[in-house]
Amino acid sequence: MPHALVVDDDANFLLPLAELVEREGFSTSVASSLHDARMLIGSRTPDLILIDLFLPDGKGLDLLADLDSTTTEVVLITGHASVDTAVQALRQGVSDYLTKPLDIQRLKTVLTNVLRAHALREEVDTLRAELRRLGRFGSLVGASAAMQKVYDAIARVAPTDATVLLTGESGTGKELVAETVHALSRRRQAPFLPLNCGAISPSLIESELFGHERGSFTGADRTHRGYFERAAGGTIFLDEITEMPFELQVKLLRVLETATVLRIGGEQTLPVDVRVIAASNRQPDDAVSHGKLREDLLYRLKVFPLHLPPLCERGDDVELLAQHFLAQLNKAEGTAKVLTRAALQRMRMHRWPGNVRELKNLVHHAFILADEEIGVDCLPAEIGGAEPPSGASLHLKVGMSLADADRRLILATLSECGGDKRKAADVLGISLKTLYNRLKAYQLP
Ligand SMILES: Nc1ncnc2c1ncn2[C@@H]1O[C@H](COP(=O)(O)OP(=O)(O)OP(=O)(O)O)[C@@H](O)[C@H]1O
Ligand SMILES: [Mg+2]
Repeated sequence: MPHALVVDDDANFLLPLAELVEREGFSTSVASSLHDARMLIGSRTPDLILIDLFLPDGKGLDLLADLDSTTTEVVLITGHASVDTAVQALRQGVSDYLTKPLDIQRLKTVLTNVLRAHALREEVDTLRAELRRLGRFGSLVGASAAMQKVYDAIARVAPTDATVLLTGESGTGKELVAETVHALSRRRQAPFLPLNCGAISPSLIESELFGHERGSFTGADRTHRGYFERAAGGTIFLDEITEMPFELQVKLLRVLETATVLRIGGEQTLPVDVRVIAASNRQPDDAVSHGKLREDLLYRLKVFPLHLPPLCERGDDVELLAQHFLAQLNKAEGTAKVLTRAALQRMRMHRWPGNVRELKNLVHHAFILADEEIGVDCLPAEIGGAEPPSGASLHLKVGMSLADADRRLILATLSECGGDKRKAADVLGISLKTLYNRLKAYQLP
């Protein structure tokens, strides 16, 4: 629960106000002088201070020096409503001011904003703690330095309304990051609507985004509300923004600049309260020089640019991600399959041109192929799968026992690997320990 400190020397005002604040979901303490307020701040940092402008031992604003503006919101209360004081106060780091007599509705708005900011901050703190413990940030997995930078950027931009431009190769997690930004914003209760500009026909994008009035074109037999209307209060994710037709980019820019939208065939503009997150797997500057993206739109979109590193720059995250996807599959299927060291090592060496998506699909594929251990044999050849060192083959007669076939394959592989047991185990897709056990059973060294 967030904590509020209420400071006023008028007890008739102070106590009812403190009660009101408490009812809105804060724990409160009260002080009637600067001195008392300082003592209380020393013992517990409040998330919110409501403070009278004039106190017996000084000015409320003097308290600002004792506070960290990133953790405490200061709201000034003044009986002497003067624009000058208020402006001066806002410049000094006060977040808002209220005048006496109090407008209860305004007070409630101020309190709600503080509560919301507090909840989001707590959530980000929890995520950071989780990151240190498990190497994940919400539904994003990865503990590498490159990903920590991404998490920091998300934490910074999520609570704001800034437009975000996500770049990064295909499969690096742009959509997942967009969802995370939405989930950590004040818009989280409202819709998150993704639209892939490359996947729907250019002629449809306009009506999908902005909506249309009945009869505005052939086939428009009823009024259609576009994404901007349907996402009210939420976030629109415009994937592959460079695939949006050039003329539409002008319209989009206008919507962003004016915060209003006009349906196709419509006469009245409608107000929109939507945050836009856009993504592209091309270099936006290149797209501008190739005439795929309007420069003015790019500037509007990249208020906050965020680049996702390719998987090959994320070091050990490959293993974390592989284990994460495997755990998801095990959970869904009620299995307990494990990845062998050798398989993980091969994955670590791969370049991953398809990034996290390629890794996810590969784990899924290997999961299906494997019984209990997911070994090198379950990986495709380009990851260094079960290609024998030479093209040698083995003739197995139908009628022989499985154990016999097993033994002959193991021995042939071992000999093909020049007696290198580790290599043979890798090729066979079994653990070194299993190979030793077999050799022991065959009474071989
Ligand atoms: N850091 C991550 N942790 C967990 N899962 C991830 C991570 N990054 C990506 N994924 C998963 O990988 C897949 C691909 O991610 P996503 O669709 O977000 O990529 P993208 O960058 O939007 O790709 P494209 O440019 O091809 O659209 C998704 O299933 C996503 O859930
Ligand atoms: Mg995508």
